[in-house]
Amino acid sequence: MSKPKVYITRLIPESGMNMILDACDAEVWSDDRAVPREILEEKIRGADGVLSLLSDRIDAPLMDIAGPQLKVISNYAVGFDNVDLAAATERGILVCNTPDVLTETTADLAFALLLAAARRLNEGVDFVRGGKWKTWGPMLLLGHDVHRATLGLIGMGRIGGAVARRASGFSMNVICYDPHASQENIESAGARRIETFDALLAESDFISIHVPLTSETDKLIDASAFRKMKRTAILINTARGQVVDTDALYDALRDGEIAYAALDVCDPEPVPPDHKLLTLDNCIIVPHIGSATVATRDRMSVMAAESLLAGLRGELPRYALNPEALAR
Ligand code: DGY
Repeated sequence: MSKPKVYITRLIPESGMNMILDACDAEVWSDDRAVPREILEEKIRGADGVLSLLSDRIDAPLMDIAGPQLKVISNYAVGFDNVDLAAATERGILVCNTPDVLTETTADLAFALLLAAARRLNEGVDFVRGGKWKTWGPMLLLGHDVHRATLGLIGMGRIGGAVARRASGFSMNVICYDPHASQENIESAGARRIETFDALLAESDFISIHVPLTSETDKLIDASAFRKMKRTAILINTARGQVVDTDALYDALRDGEIAYAALDVCDPEPVPPDHKLLTLDNCIIVPHIGSATVATRDRMSVMAAESLLAGLRGELPRYALNPEALAR
């Protein structure tokens, strides 16, 4: 029997990659940059399965180009805003993601960014490397205390909860805005629910974003949101860049409407080297590395491969986002 045809849009850790290579007739895009759309369109034609990344737009036209035999899209990320889930369901294509395995790792990075921004670590590193460190300075690089400050979490899902638990070790007062979160989850993470979004913006010293990108969260943090924040507020984003209006963020940082931002994600992503955000000292940007540890990327790779292979066998993968697609 011939092996199922699979396209893998980037090299992933060996553990999962080898599972796919053993069971499938697989082709891999092995370049460092995202696979260009025209190549993706060519390679996906006739594929039974795709292992995609968050940087690949998997939309209805692409699914149609792939053809009716396409059974499963396994997205190597917990976020799946790059995949048109409704279009996949309509076409009977299973879509899977990689939840849970990256929760703690991403929360670690959110907290690292929070600490780095609070204590202006990027400026300190640049100061030393730039040969500017001449003596101890009573007024040098004064930052903001983390301990006992108020942390406002927008979104109290798995990663929001993991950030809240870290914050309790710093004696922070953790509040959250998430109309969908259960009281039990909020309390078990040591947080307190705030009834309105505006109240969270107004009360928080640190605001950390943990919502998926949807039509409701697109540019959720806009100019009016920045105006409601404290002038000393620090914004952390490890979710998706489009949740923040980049122009409004730039203006708020430049004009001192908020104190600092620390971003793992950006809009646009990747941020070009001449982007205006990179001219600001009070903005830290790292290249979407929230889940980037050896162990976590390895677990993601196995999970994505298991989902892909289960979908190809006609089984329901454990992490299918649209189980109803199987019935189609
Ligand atoms: C995700 O999984 O959605 C992260 O953004 C990358 O790991």
